[in-house]
Amino acid sequence: MNPPQTPSLGGPNVARLRVGVLGAGTMGVGIAVTVARSGHAVVLRDISSNALAQGQDSVRRFLNRSVELGKLEADRRDAALAGLEGTLELEALADCDIVIEAILEDTELKAKTFGQLDSICREDALFHTNTSTLSVTAIAAGSSRPERVVGTHYCNPAPMMPLVEVARGQRTGEDAYERTLRFIETLDKRVVTTADVPGFLVNRYLVPFENDCIRALETNLGTVESIDAAVTKGLRYPMGPFTLLDIVGLDIHKAVSMSLFERMRDPRCAPPPLVDRMIAAGQLGRKTGEGFYTYADSKLKGT
Ligand SMILES: NC(=O)c1ccc[n+]([C@@H]2O[C@H](COP(=O)([O-])OP(=O)(O)OC[C@H]3O[C@@H](n4cnc5c(N)ncnc54)[C@H](O)[C@@H]3O)[C@@H](O)[C@H]2O)c1
Repeated sequence: MNPPQTPSLGGPNVARLRVGVLGAGTMGVGIAVTVARSGHAVVLRDISSNALAQGQDSVRRFLNRSVELGKLEADRRDAALAGLEGTLELEALADCDIVIEAILEDTELKAKTFGQLDSICREDALFHTNTSTLSVTAIAAGSSRPERVVGTHYCNPAPMMPLVEVARGQRTGEDAYERTLRFIETLDKRVVTTADVPGFLVNRYLVPFENDCIRALETNLGTVESIDAAVTKGLRYPMGPFTLLDIVGLDIHKAVSMSLFERMRDPRCAPPPLVDRMIAAGQLGRKTGEGFYTYADSKLKGT
């Protein structure tokens, strides 16, 4: 079988869409920023009023900061903020052209949510899942319209990272797939198409590599600093594995590792014992002020 091809996409063709984003956590906020600053209207939905308020605030602060840094024009920020709505109600997604879910990494929850959206959204609405490791096909099975479900995996932090992996599920239709590629083109992202396999391309290779580096540290093959330096200076990766793990968070890394391990049975995906010890000690990374490195400002969540 030929591997999936990466399509070459033409220039942007921005028709303003109404895009629902489910989950106002790390990824939901990043995706909301990405979509809103590209000229689309965004309806951000969470089940927690606190998470929603914090998420909307994070979107506003990110866009304001982008203007301060000269990376975004003020009128685009104003348009993005004017088009941003927050809601606790799933029904508010009724008129969306696309709904992107970035809720907890749980197949049943994601599938059930798409099933609920079936009776709320228009028949032609696309459902995108931002799962890191789960099966797009299994998530799509919760919907009576699996042909409209597509895997779109944004990298963290979504506004900064240029890549989106796009994976079709077993029943994804051609029309939904093509519309998805055109939509992501409007976000000024590089699409890499891949298959519906655990971890797609990025996490399939990144997670075992990160666990190898943690094991190297556990067995005293190097220090945090020397392994990071080997990877950045020797391989020219933009950041070392421990710097990256502190950004992602050790709790998230463990969940992603476990999910990959459960699906692939590859021992390199199993999180090493040091990960459990660090989680038990509250050393989750930047968000707790301490991980492999220590941070003066623990509010630097995911930056
Ligand atoms: N964090 C990463 O680096 C990363 C990268 C790529 C993909 N992902 C994937 O993105 C998804 C979200 O991850 P995250 O790190 O943003 O999680 P998070 O815990 O930061 O945020 C999840 C949010 O979803 C909300 N939520 C839970 N159930 C909901 C529901 N039914 N409807 C609406 N909101 C709901 C929670 O209240 C929370 O605010 C996961 O599937 C994860 O695997 C994460």
